[in-house]
Amino acid sequence: MSAIQRQDPQLYEAIVAEQERQRTQLELIASENYVSDAVLEAAGSVLTNKYAEGLPGKRYYGGCEWVDVAENLARERLKQLFGAEHANVQPHSGASANLAAYLAVSNAGDTMLGMSLAHGGHLTHGHPVSASGRLWKAVQYGVRLEDGLLDYDEVERLAKEHRPRFIVAGASAYPRRLDFERFGRIAEEVGADLVVDMAHIAGLVAAKLHPDPVPHAAVVTSTTHKTLRGPRGGVILCRGAYADKVDKSVFPGLQGGPLMHIIAAKAVCFGEALGEDFCDYAKRVVENARVLAETLLGRGLSLVSGGTDTHLLLLDLRGHAAPGGAPLTGKLVEEALHRVGITVNKNAVPGDPQKPWVTSGVRIGTPALTTRGMGVAEMRRIGEWIARVLERPVDEALARDTAREVRELAHAFPLFSSRAEGRSGVRAG
Ligand SMILES: Cc1ncc(COP(=O)(O)O)c(C=O)c1O
Repeated sequence: MSAIQRQDPQLYEAIVAEQERQRTQLELIASENYVSDAVLEAAGSVLTNKYAEGLPGKRYYGGCEWVDVAENLARERLKQLFGAEHANVQPHSGASANLAAYLAVSNAGDTMLGMSLAHGGHLTHGHPVSASGRLWKAVQYGVRLEDGLLDYDEVERLAKEHRPRFIVAGASAYPRRLDFERFGRIAEEVGADLVVDMAHIAGLVAAKLHPDPVPHAAVVTSTTHKTLRGPRGGVILCRGAYADKVDKSVFPGLQGGPLMHIIAAKAVCFGEALGEDFCDYAKRVVENARVLAETLLGRGLSLVSGGTDTHLLLLDLRGHAAPGGAPLTGKLVEEALHRVGITVNKNAVPGDPQKPWVTSGVRIGTPALTTRGMGVAEMRRIGEWIARVLERPVDEALARDTAREVRELAHAFPLFSSRAEGRSGVRAG
């Protein structure tokens, strides 16, 4: 019996049920992934017990000699992975990495230019409900409504008009490559710093399947849990000249003690991403997204920008009707797919007439299923299932049949080793 089971049966039940959900359903949320046994082990290790404010060799607490080893491994591997001059691996999340980056290159009250959430950017890129939009004067750019592609001319025009202290490039729901060189030139022209948030694409950048932001940006932030396939968390890379400001913005600027168990898990993740297999994994992620996109397009569905170059696609449901004639929404499709065991998230499409809680789009990503070992043949099957659920979202017989096929496919690609299950405190089998 596991310690959690003995001590906290209520929580144990929730963990077992979540594990079962992950095992039996198909995870297509673009920002999620499955970590390796080694990452899971490090994240659940005794390093969680240690306070280590400061940086390796310069801590405010005693007894840090072994967590220093872990943090140095993470920093050095991360620098090597992306060819960066400096790395800080302490941000607790992507959101805190972004705030720390902004504080390193500007003062609250300065002007920033970032991509609007409604067009694929992230809340932390200047949305009014986030600290970024409340503490900075945020100007927002977006994509062209005609083709869904980023409007670099608009970025340039807004940069010249508003003279931001920094420009943020990066997105949460943009299926095409980003031209960081062009962003870098625009920033230079107006005397701004370029901050790149590569949270979604970090794994593709590491595998050289997406243009590299590091040569063009003063500061690059990322999460570690999406295409990079590590524990939940954030990191910052920067040029040497910004190192001190970045480090001080993270601690004491924003955070207290770093999560040393998560930093250890990040070290494991970066070691894995430096390995030969990772490039192959990232290639399969992109190939799977392309095949899924082709399958959906082949069934007459529309995708923002007409397809994908990355790990994600954005289904545009405008023009499709739900039973009864009302517009088909992201909310309805997310729920219909959930009923058959396919997990996606509703997402605004550029120019969306629906509210953010409803939306006219669905974001779909392949990092998790690729980790699970699925390939082109499985993507074609899943694409067909998504298309048929979309055609008949409230058909219960169809939902039952599809759910059975989904379960069979999930069983054919087992997810957890029994060792990992033992470690996470829940039973195998
Ligand atoms: C581009 C981008 N930046 C930052 C974040 C925030 O990361 P976190 O959820 O770890 O705060 C996300 C999360 O989805 C993201 O997509």
